[in-house]
Amino acid sequence: MRESLRFYLGDELREIRDVDPTMTVLDWLRLSERRVGTKEGCAEGDCGACTVVVGRLDGDGVRYEAVNACIRFLPTLDGCRLLTIEHLKAPDGGLHPVQQAMVDSHGSQCGFCTPGFVMSLFALYLNEDRPDAQRIDDVLAGNLCRCTGYAPIVAAGRAMYDLGDRAADRFNDRAATAAALKALADDAILSVGRDGRRFLAPATVPQLAELLLAHPDATIVAGSTDVGLWVTKFQRVLSTVIHTGRIRDLRRIEDRGDALAIGAGATYSEAAPAIAALYPDFGELIRRIGAEQVRNMGTIGGNVANGSPIGDTPPALIAAGASVQLRRGEETRVLPLEDFFIAYGKQDRRPGEFVERILLPKPAPGARFRAYKITKRFDQDISAVCGAFRLTLDADGTVADIRIAFGGMAGTPKRAAGAEAALLGQPWTEETVLAGMAALKADFTPLSDWRASAGYRSEVAANLLMRLHVETTDPDAATRLVGDRRLAHA
Ligand SMILES: Cc1cc2nc3c(=O)[nH]c(=O)nc-3n(C[C@H](O)[C@H](O)[C@H](O)COP(=O)(O)OP(=O)(O)OC[C@H]3O[C@@H](n4cnc5c(N)ncnc54)[C@H](O)[C@@H]3O)c2cc1C
Ligand code: FES
Ligand code: FES
Repeated sequence: MRESLRFYLGDELREIRDVDPTMTVLDWLRLSERRVGTKEGCAEGDCGACTVVVGRLDGDGVRYEAVNACIRFLPTLDGCRLLTIEHLKAPDGGLHPVQQAMVDSHGSQCGFCTPGFVMSLFALYLNEDRPDAQRIDDVLAGNLCRCTGYAPIVAAGRAMYDLGDRAADRFNDRAATAAALKALADDAILSVGRDGRRFLAPATVPQLAELLLAHPDATIVAGSTDVGLWVTKFQRVLSTVIHTGRIRDLRRIEDRGDALAIGAGATYSEAAPAIAALYPDFGELIRRIGAEQVRNMGTIGGNVANGSPIGDTPPALIAAGASVQLRRGEETRVLPLEDFFIAYGKQDRRPGEFVERILLPKPAPGARFRAYKITKRFDQDISAVCGAFRLTLDADGTVADIRIAFGGMAGTPKRAAGAEAALLGQPWTEETVLAGMAALKADFTPLSDWRASAGYRSEVAANLLMRLHVETTDPDAATRLVGDRRLAHA
């Protein structure tokens, strides 16, 4: 057991013993360190004003990621390097190329959002050379500006590459940073806290299993993109927190031949390339979950475990035939993912049990997979309805296999059993699809809320089935107006 938290703030090693387990990185920076360049806008991961960059060990190297300091708990920085806007100024007082590009492109007016934008662009600058316009937009989708307008900021995202030598950037000395972070890494359980409240961070899966048996009421925290809001918005006091972020094995994504085994601690950013390679539309769906900062923290395991009826990955995973592996102590069990969701707010998970991995089967030859997210805005929005489909046709055009799953249509992510039955064994024609749409409407009784009315949800879900038909039968149909249009006919 190690009773102090250790991380680098820039180049300074910090060691902290006495800490509130759910103090946010933002509060620590602003209130304890008086580093007020990092701003608080929304305190819920939406506006990006609090964006900082965190470097963490990834194999033998360092991975730098933009994250939201407002919903990240300070002790989760153990073993990491934290960079804030204050670090960017050169020792001679000069601006970093990203800052200079913002000045040159007139990318700032009142300046409140500016540190957040600069840090998002800074992470991009460190990681990628001259990305395309789509990538710059994606990276900035989690930063909101209410006065400048985005064109000058996007222009800065292009201009920064002309103003500096990335390879020689003083923050890109990754070997030295990796060596410093490796010296902090150990296999001891981290245990810090204050006033009887505890933050525990095991380094291995068996340690996690034991801790959860000993503290079955503890709150598991992975990326804290849900749990962070319980603290900042609902003022919940969590007495024991068990963080999974230090467990390398839980982040692993393994190719098992017929399936991808995705560790519950793998973030969206880590898992997206492997998932997109198998299911391009699933990759596109992940690109629309939260924004870059949220995807750098949030995990697929957390999205499944929280059991939200509007989580985006469960419908896609269920349609693809995924299973969830749960572990309690030494005991593991595997369930089809749809069986994990019992009712609203109730999952098939016993006290002390945790999600260990998700098993995503590889698509069978000829299977077509589509995932559709319906939101009010394209970027950074929670689904009103999310539908996913896996379709296989026989050589004669008959439906040989169909799996349909929806989020936003019931108290849990749920399969459309009636629609599947109406389509199976039928010719894949418009007539069959119309019958499937009628059955689909009978499968669900959605609710009305501020995201969408029940009537809209019902109508749009049925229409998504027709969209699947159009995309799989008419190669010229322009069904994708935004995003990667090539996917419509993949
Ligand atoms: C700005 C913003 C935008 C978002 N946009 C989207 C979106 O577009 N689509 C979407 O689906 N979600 C969205 N979310 C919600 C959130 O990002 C996801 O649900 C995310 O996948 C949660 O993962 P996490 O690792 O952050 O989980 P955490 O917040 O750490 O945990 C979530 C829940 O899962 C439990 N948990 C975590 N890991 C395990 C485990 N291994 N075993 C058992 N229980 C576990 C926790 O105890 C908690 O109950 C958004 C959130 C924010 C802040
Ligand atoms: S303060 Fe808005 S995202 Fe953190
Ligand atoms: S410059 Fe004012 S909010 Fe962006």
